[in-house]
Amino acid sequence: MNDQLLRKNFQNFQESLFSTDPSSDASALCPPFSIVKLGPQWLGAVVELENLCCKSPWSSTLLEKELDRTDSVSFGVTYKERLVGQTFNYVVLDELHILNISVHPDFRGLRLGKFILLSILQAGVKIHSKLATLEVRESNREAIGLYHSLGFSLSAVRKNYYQDNGEDALVLDRLILESEYGALEALKTGIVDSLSLRDRFEKS
Ligand SMILES: CC(C)(COP(=O)(O)OP(=O)(O)OC[C@H]1O[C@@H](n2cnc3c(N)ncnc32)[C@H](O)[C@@H]1OP(=O)(O)O)[C@@H](O)C(=O)NCCC(=O)NCCS
Repeated sequence: MNDQLLRKNFQNFQESLFSTDPSSDASALCPPFSIVKLGPQWLGAVVELENLCCKSPWSSTLLEKELDRTDSVSFGVTYKERLVGQTFNYVVLDELHILNISVHPDFRGLRLGKFILLSILQAGVKIHSKLATLEVRESNREAIGLYHSLGFSLSAVRKNYYQDNGEDALVLDRLILESEYGALEALKTGIVDSLSLRDRFEKS
């Protein structure tokens, strides 16, 4: 794939995630949640969330570089303008590499992680990715549960992959099919409905 086409694909990816156009076919989160594009201005919040969520957090320097990159796609989820979720992804030819998904501990179990993953997969459909792939610690029950819930399966084991404790990495992947865009959207709508019901319930 040539550089120009790849860049165009990135633009499409971004547009599909952050579109505020009411005719956009990708559903947004319901207020007070929203999806935001992460850039350098988010560094402090990104580092804080990374340290809170990850066993071997990326350094502030690495995260700063990540936020500066134009060839990667990162986005966040905010609740009342506070960063409560984030993800970093690369597009490598026709593969979507999911580097990380994190949700603030106070906001887990609301299916925000699933919403993020569904949005990544939908964006993958839009840019004609054929495969989504990632590595996860074999002890990371929550993340493995999340990935399994959306059809990822084991493709390889990288022995003693993590330097901090010698843990194995599971390589999970999943095909991305153009025909499933609507089904992914329906799952997102279900999550948005349950979040807005919950918010209404909490206010009453
Ligand atoms: C993994 C993580 C992102 C999940 O976020 P979350 O918003 O709490 O997850 P969700 O509420 O969207 O749950 C989605 C699915 O994950 C699975 N899941 C979530 N928590 C689980 C748990 N404690 N045990 C097993 N499965 C779990 C379920 O299948 C769930 O689907 P369901 O609600 O339809 O049953 C979150 O736990 C996290 O940030 N962990 C730390 C960072 C991390 O390890 N990221 C992954 C690195 S690759």
